[in-house]
Amino acid sequence: MSSRSIVIIGGNGKIAQRLTKLLVSPSHQHRVTSIIRSPSQIDPIKALSPELVTPLVLSLETSQPADYTKVFEETAADVVYFMAGGSGKPGDNGETAVERTRKVDYEGSIMIYDALEAVSGKKPRLIMISALDIRAPDAPFPDHYDEADRALSARIRVAHPVYYEWKYKADIELVRRTGFKWTLVRPGGLTEEPGAGSASIGRTHLTSRVSRDDVAQVLFCLLDREDASGLAIDVTGGPSDINARLDEVIKKGESDFPL
Ligand SMILES: NC(=O)c1ccc[n+]([C@@H]2O[C@H](COP(=O)([O-])OP(=O)(O)OC[C@H]3O[C@@H](n4cnc5c(N)ncnc54)[C@H](OP(=O)(O)O)[C@@H]3O)[C@@H](O)[C@H]2O)c1
Repeated sequence: MSSRSIVIIGGNGKIAQRLTKLLVSPSHQHRVTSIIRSPSQIDPIKALSPELVTPLVLSLETSQPADYTKVFEETAADVVYFMAGGSGKPGDNGETAVERTRKVDYEGSIMIYDALEAVSGKKPRLIMISALDIRAPDAPFPDHYDEADRALSARIRVAHPVYYEWKYKADIELVRRTGFKWTLVRPGGLTEEPGAGSASIGRTHLTSRVSRDDVAQVLFCLLDREDASGLAIDVTGGPSDINARLDEVIKKGESDFPL
């Protein structure tokens, strides 16, 4: 497989760094432009692969769509991964966690959609991180949820209403976009456990958490799966081989959003 040009938005993130390592590994050697938000992150990100990783400081909170269009065109990006998120934390310039969630998770996403649409010539595919259980506020529980899933879903919505609101708005807007190809990846609760090399993919249970290593592996596998365009793929911890199960879900066209 030839070397690809990849742009990661939110390159300093925990999953993003794991994904970067997979992309630049000796057997793949893809070129990664890693968009970060602080100059202090340049050296550690560059150290992931001095030859293949190019850090670029550009915050979603202070930039314009044209800044990203320029990056996508200049790098001739094949795939853009959106891995950024406000993590429910307040901003550096006094924004509350609520304002920052809207700004990074929602407005940041829309800015990247707009930037992709403005790319002249072949547009990169977007692989977008979202989260399991994002759905319309009035949507019923998915049919495959058991009682424990339903109870957890209700609890999470009460604990993180702002996150669920703005992620839903970002995702539903993505589903409406037709100017570029996209895939949504919706992990369950994330852990720092070492990857199992397996997962539960597709219609799965909310109560099962998933290692960031395994989510990074799913994202990596999607690099070559243009046929996953238009699908929203749920990922939690589980026993299935990642490549084989992903292939099954993609071939079936199984999509978990919108509900
Ligand atoms: N936590 C969970 O259990 C869970 C479950 C399902 C889905 N998710 C989703 O998965 C995503 C990735 O998870 P993760 O663990 O890798 O998160 P993470 O480590 O918090 O990564 C998010 C990245 O976004 C970056 N970012 C924040 N504001 C930005 C801005 N204005 N411009 C550019 N980049 C910005 C952060 O930069 P800094 O490094 O400078 O802060 C950070 O590197 C989360 O954001 C969330 O949406 C999370």
